[in-house]
Amino acid sequence: MARPVIWIPRRLSDATLERAQATYDCIINWDDTESTADRIVEMSARADGIIPCHSEHFTAQVAGRLNARLKIIANHSVGVDHCDLPALKARGIAVTNTPDVLSDATAEIAMLLMLGAARRAVEGDRIVRTGAWDFWSPGFMVGKQVTGARLGIIGMGRVGRAFAAKARGFGMEIHYHNRSRLIPDQEQGAVFHDTVDDLLGVADFLSLHCPATPETTGLMNAERFALLPDGAVVVNTARGALIDETALLAALSAGKLTAAGLDCYVREPGGNPGFAAHDNIFMLPHIGSATVQTRDAMGFRALDNLDAFFRGDDPKDLL
Ligand code: DGY
Repeated sequence: MARPVIWIPRRLSDATLERAQATYDCIINWDDTESTADRIVEMSARADGIIPCHSEHFTAQVAGRLNARLKIIANHSVGVDHCDLPALKARGIAVTNTPDVLSDATAEIAMLLMLGAARRAVEGDRIVRTGAWDFWSPGFMVGKQVTGARLGIIGMGRVGRAFAAKARGFGMEIHYHNRSRLIPDQEQGAVFHDTVDDLLGVADFLSLHCPATPETTGLMNAERFALLPDGAVVVNTARGALIDETALLAALSAGKLTAAGLDCYVREPGGNPGFAAHDNIFMLPHIGSATVQTRDAMGFRALDNLDAFFRGDDPKDLL
């Protein structure tokens, strides 16, 4: 029987590509460029499966134009906001993602952003790097202490829980909001708040870990920033769509927030040019899961899902 053809639109890890090529006839975009809607549609006529990243957009419009040859979209991401799931389901296309394997790497980046934002990493690095460090006093570059502070987490899924575990190591008091309350084993003493608004009142540090959906788009808006304690720090390693970026800038400029740590933006790649002038925004370019181990694990998880699908089984991460 002929091997299924898989289109791989981004340069996945070497180990992933090696394994993929051992099992499938692969069409690999070695140039590693982003694909347009037309390109995705064109490739759906040449492939039985695709391993896209969050950079390939399967909108309802694209889904409607996909060739009937394409049977599965095995995402190399946990987030699937780039896929219109109902539209793909209506076309009979299976969609999977890669949960679990990137939780620790993403939680590490959330920790880096939280500490960097709280302790003025952007400003400090710049001052030393540019030779502008010519003064020291006890009042110089004083930041906000993380140890002992209250951390509010929105979205206590795998990444939220991994971050909570790391934050406990910093002696933080963990509060969370989630669609449903966790069992005590998972809660590990964290305090559940049944509404976002209720959580915000205690979040000296706020970290977002929920998916971007129509319901969570613009979740952190001007009204919600106002509910945070004065001087709060906001961290986002989930999706840019969760934050109204204009409202975030306004809250930072007004001094309502001390700082923000961001790995995700409304516009990606590129980010928000309006953030650049603000030293109290510590920014990274969507690299939460970017470690060697995690990239391999994501690729392997996507391949496990493809393998199950082409064996005739339900993939583990079928959405
Ligand atoms: C994810 O897996 O959703 C990460 O954001 C990388 O795409």
